[in-house]
Amino acid sequence: MRPLPVFPPGFRWGTATASYQIEGSVRADGRGASIWDTFCAEPGRVKNGDTGETACDHYRRWPEDVALMDGLGVGAYRFSVAWPRVQPDGRGPANAKGLDFYERLVDALLERGIAPFLTLYHWDLPQALEDLGGWTDRDTAHRFADYAALVADRLGDRVTAWITLNEPFVHMSEGYSLGSHAPGRALLLDALPAAHHLLLGHGLAVRALRGRVTGDIMLTNNYSPVLPATGDPADRAAADAFDALQNRLFTDPVLLGRYPDLTAYGVTGLPFVRDGDLALIASPIDGLGVNYYSPTRIAAPAQAPSHQGPSVLGEVGDRIQEAGLPFQDTPIEGHPVTAFGWPVVPDALHTLLTGLRDDYGAALPPITITENGCSSHDEPGRPDDDRVAYLDAHLRALHRAITDGVDVRGYFVWSLLDNFEWAEGYSQRFGLVHVDFETQERTPKASYHWLRAQLESQP
Ligand code: BGC
Repeated sequence: MRPLPVFPPGFRWGTATASYQIEGSVRADGRGASIWDTFCAEPGRVKNGDTGETACDHYRRWPEDVALMDGLGVGAYRFSVAWPRVQPDGRGPANAKGLDFYERLVDALLERGIAPFLTLYHWDLPQALEDLGGWTDRDTAHRFADYAALVADRLGDRVTAWITLNEPFVHMSEGYSLGSHAPGRALLLDALPAAHHLLLGHGLAVRALRGRVTGDIMLTNNYSPVLPATGDPADRAAADAFDALQNRLFTDPVLLGRYPDLTAYGVTGLPFVRDGDLALIASPIDGLGVNYYSPTRIAAPAQAPSHQGPSVLGEVGDRIQEAGLPFQDTPIEGHPVTAFGWPVVPDALHTLLTGLRDDYGAALPPITITENGCSSHDEPGRPDDDRVAYLDAHLRALHRAITDGVDVRGYFVWSLLDNFEWAEGYSQRFGLVHVDFETQERTPKASYHWLRAQLESQP
C-alpha cells in the first residue's frame, strides 16, 4: 500500500449514505409515503422493479452499521433524515417516533466519537406534498423550513453539520425535468420553478436553523467540470450553457445572490422569483458540500441523438437532445470507466476545486467533499481494486488542491454500504462494505481495509 499524503490536522474523514437508499422499513413507526415509494411502485421506473422497501434494512440494523464505521476508523458520518418519518404528510407536528430513530443514531455516533453530518433532504419528499405540486409549488419551500425546525428542535445541540439539500440540480433535472427519478415528471425547462423553490426552501431552512443549532449549516451540490468537445466556438458556447445549469444554477444564487445567465435556454426572465427571495437564498452558510464523480464533455447539439458510449448523462443525454436543449454530451475517451460507465478523471477534482475558488473568491465558504466514490462489479471474494485505485487517485488530487490553497475540511466516501441506487435499483454497488440483499450480510471489501489502514497514518 502506498501511503496517502498527510492531510491537515482536524481534516474530517467520513462515509456517506442517504435515508431511502439504506433504511427500508418504509411503513415503520408512522412513516408516511415518499415520492420514491410511489415511483418504485410504478412499473418500468426502476431497473428490475427494485424498491427501497427493505434496502439495507438499516432502520433495524443501524447498530451494526455504526460498528462498521467505528471499525473503519472514520471520525464523521453523513446520513439523511427521511422527511416522511418526521412529518408523514409533510406538514404539522412531529411524529416523535421518527425523530427517536435519528436521535438514537446520533447519540450512538457521538458515543463512538463519530461526528454526525445530517442532510435534511436527500430526495424523499412526502408524497402528500407532491400531490399538491411538490417542488413546483412555492408552499413546499415553507413546509421544508417547518420540517427543518422540527428536526433542529430535537437534535440542534448535537449535530456537527446540517446540510439542507442534497444535489438539488440532480433532483430538479432527473425528478422534474426528465422524469428518470421520482417524482417522474418530465417538464423540461418548465421545471425551473422547482429549482427556485428548492433554493428558496434552502434559504428559509437556513434562517430556521440559525439560532436553533450549534453546528455548521451547509448546502451540498454536485459538480461536474465541463470540457468543451472541441475548441469550436459552438462547442464552447454549448459547454458554457451546460455549465450554467449543472454547476451554477444552485451555487450562484446561494453565494452571489443572483441567477446565472440562462439566455442560451431562451430564458430571459424568472417570473416566479419574488422580491426578497434572492436575499433569503443568499443567507450566509458555513460550508459548501461538494459531491464529485466525473467531468462532462459537451458539444453543440447535433441533428439526431448520438449517444455512443460511456458518458455521464447516458441515455438521458439523448432525451435532452430530443428536447432541443442547447447542448449534447459526448463520451470522454482515454480514461477507465466505472461499472456505471462514468469516466474516472481524478485531475478534474483538482480542476473543480481550484475553479470554485477562482470563480467565487471570498464568497466561497470552506468546502467539504460530501460524496466521492464509484460503482464497481463487486462480488464477495473479489477485491475491489478498482475502487481502491479510484479513491487513492481522487484523494491525491484533493490533497494537491489543498496544497494549492483551496480550503477543504473533510472527505466522505460514497458510500458506506452497497445500497439502492435510485433508478438503477441494486444493480450498481458503491459500498466500502458489500451487502448481500438476500441475507443482509455485510462484508467489508478490500477498499474498506485499505481506507482503514490509510487512516491509521493520518493525524
Ligand atoms: C447522490 C447519491 C447517489 C450517488 C451515486 C449522488 O448523485 O447523492 O444518492 O447514490 O450520487 O449515483
